[in-house]
Amino acid sequence: MRWLVLFFGGVLVAPFEVNAPDKHLLALRGHSAVLGCEFTPDLNLSNLVVTWQREEDSQVVHSFYYQQDQLERQSPEYHSRTSLFVTELHKGNASIRIAAVSWKDAGRYLCIVSNTKGTGRASMEVTYGALYSEPRLSIHLNSSALTVEFETEGFPKPEVIWVDEHDQTLSCPLELLKHTEDGLYLIKSRYEVKKQVVNVTFTLKNHLLNQNIHRPVTFSYDENIKSNPGTATVVVLSLVCIVLLIGVIWLTLVRRKKLGSTGATNHNHQCNT
Ligand SMILES: *[C@@H]1O[C@H](CO)[C@@H](O)[C@H](O)[C@H]1NC(C)=O
Ligand SMILES: *[C@@H]1O[C@H](CO)[C@@H](O)[C@H](O)[C@H]1NC(C)=O
Ligand SMILES: *[C@@H]1O[C@H](CO)[C@@H](O)[C@H](O)[C@H]1NC(C)=O
Ligand SMILES: *[C@@H]1O[C@H](CO)[C@@H](O)[C@H](O)[C@H]1NC(C)=O
Repeated sequence: MRWLVLFFGGVLVAPFEVNAPDKHLLALRGHSAVLGCEFTPDLNLSNLVVTWQREEDSQVVHSFYYQQDQLERQSPEYHSRTSLFVTELHKGNASIRIAAVSWKDAGRYLCIVSNTKGTGRASMEVTYGALYSEPRLSIHLNSSALTVEFETEGFPKPEVIWVDEHDQTLSCPLELLKHTEDGLYLIKSRYEVKKQVVNVTFTLKNHLLNQNIHRPVTFSYDENIKSNPGTATVVVLSLVCIVLLIGVIWLTLVRRKKLGSTGATNHNHQCNT
């Protein structure tokens, strides 16, 4: 029936349709997301009813009828965060903008439209992602080891790789500190070496957002420091070492491009979480 076109009084009348141009959308934490929805327009807007809801639990995201927003039944989760493009409605565009995206916005959405030409619905899925923050570096020294650690927050779970000066991949398991209330993973990754010199590169990849962070760390310390009991353990934050912050972040939100994952090879250096 979808493809049936009626020849009607010399005018081609297309059947009523509601369509979501993007079935999968990526929504970035803190940013706005536009969920697209188009329908067969009718010049008379007085019969138009647009309802956006969550597919899982039918909570109302936004609704519009009698030619205005009708938000009495809107879920509190979406209060003051949604808007239709009202001037686009007559063109058959019922897209919605959701501001300040949070992890709770991930899931399935329904766009339900009716006008004098008919009623229809389209569904789509929203995936949530958060860019990893600038990794915080700390270096711990004690009598037996030198430890380099990075800590950062983002979503979803990243791939973390440490590479040494000979381009050897060091397999360092990362510590995932469960979801914060904010819908972020707090992650810590630690590289430990029993030498006085460290020259490694920390790489974090958020494949969903195509985010790549590279942070080379070059650090060495003077043996004399250890003989001073007051500084037997030194915690250096970002400054003392030569940190080459030549990181590059590529972010391409348009398409999620899966990068081939680099196979990790085990190495003699110690990596701990
Ligand atoms: C609807 O209008 C908005 C705002 O102008 C635009 O960003 C979006 O691409 C349009 N969507 C469709 C499906 O035409
Ligand atoms: C639009 O539709 C309403 C309700 O069906 C009707 O009362 C009104 O006259 C129509 N307006 C136009 C311009 O056709
Ligand atoms: C030195 O630090 C490492 C890593 O933090 C730890 O495993 C080790 O127990 C420490 N050794 C001493 C003597 O404190
Ligand atoms: C660290 O290793 C890189 C190669 O990965 C090398 O170019 C650089 O000179 C090294 N830095 C030091 C201080 O050894």
